[in-house]
Amino acid sequence: MPVEKYSFDFEIYSSFNELSDADAALLTMAQKAAENAYAPYSNFHVGAAALLNNGEMLTGSNQENASYPVGTCAERVLLGNIATMFPNIPLQTMAISYFNDKGKSVHPISPCGMCRQYLLEYEKRVNQPIRLILGGKEGKIFIIKSAAELLPLNFSAEDF
Ligand code: THU
Repeated sequence: MPVEKYSFDFEIYSSFNELSDADAALLTMAQKAAENAYAPYSNFHVGAAALLNNGEMLTGSNQENASYPVGTCAERVLLGNIATMFPNIPLQTMAISYFNDKGKSVHPISPCGMCRQYLLEYEKRVNQPIRLILGGKEGKIFIIKSAAELLPLNFSAEDF
């Protein structure tokens, strides 16, 4: 029986100081955007920031709802903002950060499954990989070349 193996490479930085200025600025924006989260139910505040090909930087944050499934993650709020304000401009990089109910974030978080699917389709739509910077206020930072790396054997319109 043949067995296929999936693996991917990603960069691990031990601290914020190791990042390039541009990446550090984007991660800082994501951390600040988390302050605009509406997260009264989970108390988990997520912020995302994107750098577009035209140099614009936009942000998003998670927006929850008393009807829990209605809530939207920071990444999808951000992609909706980009699609609306700059429909023809691809994004190069998205930084994702957060803080918890104690105001802390000491390790990177990774996009949820639904956001991975959304990110994948956005990459295909604008025909450019989205580089991801994942990091909290402290701790390690992960950089991933493309959101597609996080969703092997994915489903897309190519399967129709
Ligand atoms: N959340 C995000 O905004 N992005 C993620 O990648 C993971 C989870 C939000 C959804 C919900 O409002 C809260 O974090 C707790 O799950």
